Amino acid sequence: MAGPGTVTAVDEFRPDGPNLVVGAENLEFLPSLPDGAFTLVYLDPPFNTGRTQRRQQLSMVRAAAEESDRVGFGGQSYKTIKGALASYDDAFADYWEFLEPRLREAWRLLADDGTLYLHLDYREVHYAKVMLDAIFGRECFLNEIIWAYDFGGRSKRRWPSKHDTILVYVKDPDGYWFDSEEVDREPYMAPGLVTPEKVARGKLPTDVWWHTIVSPTGKEKTGYPTQKPLGLLKRMVAASTRRDDWVLDFFAGSGTLGAAAAALQRRFVLVDQNPEALEVMRRRLAEHL
Ligand SMILES: C[S@@+](CC[C@H](N)C(=O)[O-])C[C@H]1O[C@@H](n2cnc3c(N)ncnc32)[C@H](O)[C@@H]1O
Repeated sequence: MAGPGTVTAVDEFRPDGPNLVVGAENLEFLPSLPDGAFTLVYLDPPFNTGRTQRRQQLSMVRAAAEESDRVGFGGQSYKTIKGALASYDDAFADYWEFLEPRLREAWRLLADDGTLYLHLDYREVHYAKVMLDAIFGRECFLNEIIWAYDFGGRSKRRWPSKHDTILVYVKDPDGYWFDSEEVDREPYMAPGLVTPEKVARGKLPTDVWWHTIVSPTGKEKTGYPTQKPLGLLKRMVAASTRRDDWVLDFFAGSGTLGAAAAALQRRFVLVDQNPEALEVMRRRLAEHL
C-alpha cells in the first residue's frame, strides 16, 4: 500500500486482489484503474476546492465539453450553461471544472450494470445534475435522494437547511443492478393504518432518507470532520451491488464506503490525498486490508 501523498503502483488493483486504500490525488491515480471495474462509485467531494486546480485542467475540460454536448444535450445548451456560470460566479465555475473530469472517470470506471451516487449539498446539486445529464445522458438519471437530518441551529430568516442531496445515475438504464429486497426497511409512520404483518416487516424506504448525522459522542465517530453515516452507505451498497462486487470512493475521507462494503462482504478501493484521512481509514479498516 502507498504512503500518504504517493500514488499506488499502477498494477496494484487486481479484480482478484485485496481491498485498497490509496494515498493519491484522485485524477492522477484513476487512469490506472481498468474500465468498468466497479459496480458502485460513491463520491462525496469537498465543496469548492477547484480554484487551485483550474489552470492545469482547463484544456482537458474543453475537449471533454465538446463531446458532452453530443452525448447528453442537443445544440449548445451544456456549453451555454457553463459559459453563463463562469460569467457570474468564478468559484462555481472552478468547482465545475474540478468535478467534471473526475465524474467522467467515474463513468468510465463503472461496470455496465453499475451505479454512481454523488453526494452534494443544496448549493451545488443543481449544477451537478446538469453536468451528469451531459456525461451520462438524461435517461441514466435514476434518483435524487434527499438525506434529511435534524441537527444544529435553525435560521429564523429562511427555512433551515437540514438535508443533503445524493444524485443517482446508472451506466445503462436497461441493465443496472438494483435489489430492493436487500434494503433495510423503515417503520411505518402510521402503523395503526396497516396490518400487523406489514408493521413487523417495515416499509421500503423512498427517495427521502431520514437518518441522524454521525453522533459526536457515538462509537461510529472516527474523528474525521466530514464523516458520513454508515447507515446511508450500507443502504446504497446493499441495493446497488452484489456480494464480492467492487466499489470505489475517490474522495474517501474516513472510508465510510469501505466500512459499508466490508460489512456487506463487498470489495473496495478508497482514494484520498489527505494523510489524515489515510490514517483514519487504515485504522478503521485494518482487518479488511
Ligand atoms: C467530504 S470528504 C469525504 C468524507 C467521506 N464521505 C466520509 O464519510 O468520511 C472529501 C474528501 O476528499 C478528499 N479530496 C479532496 N480533493 C481530492 C483530490 N483531488 N484527490 C483525492 N482526494 C481528495 C479530501 O481530503 C476529503 O477527505
